[in-house]
Amino acid sequence: AKSGPSAVTNTMGAYACQRKTPLEHHNAVLTDALLLLAENADFCTNEGRSVAFKRAASVLKALPGPVRRMEELQGLPCLGEHCQRVIKEILEHGASSEVEMTRHSEHYQAMKALTGIFGVGVKTAEQWHRAGIRHPADLVSSEHKLNRAQRAGVEYYEHLRVPVTKAEADRIGEIVKRAVDAVLLGAEITLTGGFRRGKQTGHDVDFLITHPDEGREEGLLPKVVSWLEARDLLLYQKTNKNSYLEAKEWPARPPSNMDRFERCFSIFKLQRPWAALEEPPQSGERGAAETPGWKAVRVDLVVTPVSQFAFALLGWTGSQLFERDLRRWAGQKGMSLSSHALYDCEQKRYLRATSEEEIFAHLGLEYIPPGERNA
Ligand code: GTP
Ligand code: MN
Ligand code: MN
Repeated sequence: AKSGPSAVTNTMGAYACQRKTPLEHHNAVLTDALLLLAENADFCTNEGRSVAFKRAASVLKALPGPVRRMEELQGLPCLGEHCQRVIKEILEHGASSEVEMTRHSEHYQAMKALTGIFGVGVKTAEQWHRAGIRHPADLVSSEHKLNRAQRAGVEYYEHLRVPVTKAEADRIGEIVKRAVDAVLLGAEITLTGGFRRGKQTGHDVDFLITHPDEGREEGLLPKVVSWLEARDLLLYQKTNKNSYLEAKEWPARPPSNMDRFERCFSIFKLQRPWAALEEPPQSGERGAAETPGWKAVRVDLVVTPVSQFAFALLGWTGSQLFERDLRRWAGQKGMSLSSHALYDCEQKRYLRATSEEEIFAHLGLEYIPPGERNA
């Protein structure tokens, strides 16, 4: 289509899975602002509002250059009135009063600190907030009951706040590989999540484990966990069994983002072989005793039968919004997508796939590589 030099031709799809979203983009000031409002909406258990802000931010991430004038947004999807007001204020004044007020609000800050504890969701954080808890430290002396995950979350809070680096993720990958090799010959591990999308840091490390012979992977995780525990490599773990039965899942059960794989949520104790290379402590500042030779790192291990591997890989690579829109897109096409399978509701049959490319093709979507799923 032809257009004048000043006309804006925005043909961006409304679903995140229809567009390429690179990791590095040109509108970080705007997206940081919108994502803070999304986070705050989550803290107020307003999911609809949160998703709307996330969608708007995601659209801006996919733009080829920085937004300078409101007219450039014409025709773009997912930019509601509220988002536009925020963007306009930032473009004109350099900041949004709503965003700055939220950022400095007591509720936002307390909820951010409390939901930052491993094992603590918005509901629990909100209850604690109402009881006057503002910070993880307040929990240590309080009479509030913590479950096992939350106790670990409080204990390793300072460690888990520090982003995991790609080097640390690779080191953990080596350890997991050794564990898996030791308990099941031929098993394969794949790094997924944010690191597969090219992120250089993450809040955790996500791995998929499978075996080329279907069924051999069953019951693998407890053995892997034992191997790791025997070597003092785990600070916390909770392992769930596989509860997926294909025949029973559809159409009876609506697809959700919670899958039913054998999986382990864990906290690794990662020794620091490179501790000696770090900045030495300034004399009189932190003593060596305060800098342990290890770091607590969140690790997710997920075991998948090889027949479901492509779906699991697609489902665990993210981003979260990309996944959400993939499922919504599938629904609108009369299909149902999960991390286990793709079901065609009209043909009443499962659509098989051995690669992510095939799944995109089944869905009638152009293939988007992991590095461009940073919606
Ligand atoms: P960081 O860890 O913060 O770097 O980002 P991330 O994108 O890796 O996020 P996270 O580790 O939380 O999740 C990785 C991907 O797995 C995301 O796309 C999530 O939507 C997905 N995911 C997380 N938990 C589950 C789950 O229980 N089931 C399924 N199917 N997917 C999940
Ligand atoms: Mn992750
Ligand atoms: Mn994870």
